[in-house]
Amino acid sequence: MENQTKTALVTGGSRGIGRAVALKLAEAGNNVAIVYAGNREAAEETLGQIKSHGVLGVAIQCDVADFNAAKAAVDAVVQTLGGVDMLINNAGITKDGLLARMSEEQFDAVVDVSLKGSFNFIRHVTPLMMKKRTADGKKGWGRIVNLASIAGLMGNAGQVNYAAAKAGMIGLTKSVARELAGRNITCNAIAPGFIETDMTANLGDLPLIDAVPMKRMGKAEEVAELALFLCSDHAAYITGETIRIDGGLAM
Ligand code: NAI
Repeated sequence: MENQTKTALVTGGSRGIGRAVALKLAEAGNNVAIVYAGNREAAEETLGQIKSHGVLGVAIQCDVADFNAAKAAVDAVVQTLGGVDMLINNAGITKDGLLARMSEEQFDAVVDVSLKGSFNFIRHVTPLMMKKRTADGKKGWGRIVNLASIAGLMGNAGQVNYAAAKAGMIGLTKSVARELAGRNITCNAIAPGFIETDMTANLGDLPLIDAVPMKRMGKAEEVAELALFLCSDHAAYITGETIRIDGGLAM
C-alpha cells in the first residue's frame, strides 16, 4: 500500500473542517470522495479544488444517518475511485438547548448524524479495508479518523445531545481500534475546541475565548494537518487515541 495512490472518503466534506481535510488529503496526493448533505454548489466547488491538485475526486449526496444510503455512497466511491483506504467521519450538527427544554427530536438528530453516521460509514468501509494488502503482503490496511469534540470529554451545558454523541464517538473509536488493530487498520479521534467554521459562526463575541490558554480560535487547516498526520504512515502505531486540538482549553 505504501506507494500506491490511496482514496479518502470525507463525510460533510463540502465546507468547514471537512473541506479543509479533503483539500489537505488531496494536496498530499490522495484521491478524495466527499459526502455532502444537500449543498450541491458548495460540494461542486470543493470538488473542483480537490481536482486542482491533480487527483481524482467525486462528490456524493447522502444523509450519513441513513444506513442504506451510507452503503450506497460507499459503493459509489468504490465504483468511481476503486476503493476506500481512509475514512474521515466529519459530518456533524448541533441542536443546542438546556436539558429541561431539549426535545426528543433534538437529541435523536444530533446522535443520528454524528454517532450513528460514523458507525454507518465504518461498518461499510471496513470490509474493504480488511481486504487490502500491504507491500510486504500483510492483509488489511486502513485509517479511520472520527471528528469528536472536547464537549465529549468535558461535557457542556446546553449540549447534552452533542456531548453524548461525541463521547459515544470516542468509545466507538476505541472499540473499532481494538477490533481491527490486527488488520493494520487504525482508528483515532480528534477532539477540537473552538474552530472557526460555520458551526461556530453564530457564537457571537466569544468571552469563551478567555478560557482558551492560547486566546484564539483554531483554524480548520490546523485540524486538517492533524487528520493528515493520523492518516499517514508516521501514525502507523497510533490507534484508539483521542487527540485534543483546542489551544489547551480542555487540559
Ligand atoms: P460545519 O457545520 O461547518 O460542517 C458540518 C458538515 O457536516 C457540513 O458539510 C454538513 O453539510 C455536514 N452534515 C451535517 N449533517 C449531515 C448529514 N446528515 N449527512 C451528511 N452530511 C452532513 O461544521 P464544522 O465546524 O466544520 O465541524 C465539522 C466536525 O467537527 C463536526 O463533526 C463537528 O461536530 C466537529 N467539531 C467542530 C468544532 C468547531 O469548533 N467548529 C469543535 C468540535 C468539533
